[in-house]
Amino acid sequence: MIGYLDGAYLWVKAAHVVFVIFWMAGLFMLPRYLVHHQEGLSIPGEPERWIKREALLRRMILTPSLVIVWVLGLALALNLGLLDGQPGLGWLHAKLALVIALSGYHGWAVGYARKLAAGRPTLSPRTLRLVNEVPALAVILIVVLAEVKPF
Ligand code: HEM
Repeated sequence: MIGYLDGAYLWVKAAHVVFVIFWMAGLFMLPRYLVHHQEGLSIPGEPERWIKREALLRRMILTPSLVIVWVLGLALALNLGLLDGQPGLGWLHAKLALVIALSGYHGWAVGYARKLAAGRPTLSPRTLRLVNEVPALAVILIVVLAEVKPF
């Protein structure tokens, strides 16, 4: 399938990066919401407000962007020969591993929002704040792999 996107390749790549930005925006916001949600569990009316905000963020930004980033990213990867044994794609394999981990983090954050909605936090506030830094670290590594292609 190498080169099948032809002249559309750069347009698909541009759309991929746009939806990466939306997905990352959502992935930076949701864990921050979780911190506020957990802190407000005992304040009357607060949990309901955070449950609503989290659901909206998920429905409007996180889920659609995740799907579109994956579809466009895989389209680009197939064009580069991911399934054709094309050499020189070590960066793409490493990037895929990190993106799978980031998608797992997305799933974890959505699951933790459900725990908070049920009033059952399982992490200390400090751990929750530390876990907030995961998307930033992942983005640094993924962008370096995509732009520098070091291997
Ligand atoms: C979901 C799975 C993903 C797949 C399969 C994927 C795959 C790809 C592929 C094959 C390219 C084209 C590279 C090139 O033409 O040189 C690309 C470009 C890019 N990707 Fe992804 N990607 C994914 C997710 C992400 C994520 C999560 C980020 C950032 C956090 C990201 C950031 C970028 C950037 C910045 C570029 C542009 C590189 C350039 O300037 O040429 N991608 N991606």
